[in-house]
Amino acid sequence: MSQPPSSPSPASQSAPVSADQRALDTEPQYIDAPLTAAAAFLVLAVKDDDASIAAVRSVTGSTDDLIKDVKIRANGGAFTCNVGISHRVWSALTGKPAPKELAPFKEVRGAAHVAVSTPGDLLYHIRAASTDLIVEFEKILLEAFGDAVTVIDDVAGFRYFNGRDLLEFVDGTANPDGLDLPAATIVGDEDPDYAGGSYVVIQKYLHNLAGWRGQSVETQEAIIGRTKFDNVELPDAAQGQKSHKTLCTIQDAEGEHDILRDNMPFATPGRGEYGTYFIGYSRHLWVIEKMLERMFIGDPPPLHDRILDFSKAVTGVTFFAPARKFLSNLGD
Ligand code: HEM
Repeated sequence: MSQPPSSPSPASQSAPVSADQRALDTEPQYIDAPLTAAAAFLVLAVKDDDASIAAVRSVTGSTDDLIKDVKIRANGGAFTCNVGISHRVWSALTGKPAPKELAPFKEVRGAAHVAVSTPGDLLYHIRAASTDLIVEFEKILLEAFGDAVTVIDDVAGFRYFNGRDLLEFVDGTANPDGLDLPAATIVGDEDPDYAGGSYVVIQKYLHNLAGWRGQSVETQEAIIGRTKFDNVELPDAAQGQKSHKTLCTIQDAEGEHDILRDNMPFATPGRGEYGTYFIGYSRHLWVIEKMLERMFIGDPPPLHDRILDFSKAVTGVTFFAPARKFLSNLGD
């Protein structure tokens, strides 16, 4: 799916690598998999002792096999899993320098709202047509990890009517597709050792639904930048307060910089918990960081994204999802 980069990796400098081999080496994980009816976001902390690191290296290296074990039981249902590794454990786990832009999630402190930075060493983003497969995969995975990891968060997302978030707007419309999708999400020539990988940022948002429902539909639409029922894009505000979609549009001399969002609603009604799990994949981490800056600090400051007045970010972690081959080589 990504364009095979032309520059050779250090390991390949002595012998030329065929285009086929290059394509295999840089094949991404399942970044481009479609949104499914169910998804899970499993965030783990890795224990720092040598035995735990070795165990984690072996389990993450066998991700492809674990996926196959479950996928074949899916009876044709979509099942995918992407693994992200944080800056904190990158070198210990891989024995290699980190991808160029990989860094811990940078807290963004606006006048009214904060994009918090929280712990997390591994991300498993699991998608399936039904929750049973996700539970089965997580069970097998966590048994394999044993006590080498601790679970920081495990959120089960679900499809809410026709692809809406719990603010009741269709979410994911402006995602890139076709060739724009790998161009926006997959690292290429700019970091040859990590071609085929993707930066991943997650944030768990909790909504104040009563507050949101207290707004008129016109106000809600102005906040998002689209109409609610039929999902039509509204014009950018000529001046002053910008909508969410405008603040998240990053444009420079090179054009518009897209990211891929696979957000999912999650909820525990009995506890009054309703949220959106944001997950963004990007070829360049700075693009997501810029969006967060514009949302939380505002453009111009202090005109922050009004979605935040009804949505509180309670987590924030950055990972890198390397190419499939890189991941499976960890197990060798
Ligand atoms: C409470 C959390 C969030 C909710 C409920 C939410 C919801 C939405 C909705 C309904 C849209 C319009 C339809 C669409 O194009 O998908 C949208 C657009 C978008 N959102 Fe969010 N979003 C959230 C957080 C974020 C965050 C944290 C980012 C990036 C850091 C982001 C980036 C974008 C982008 C890039 C667009 C498309 C802009 C365009 O039209 O080009 N969103 N979001």
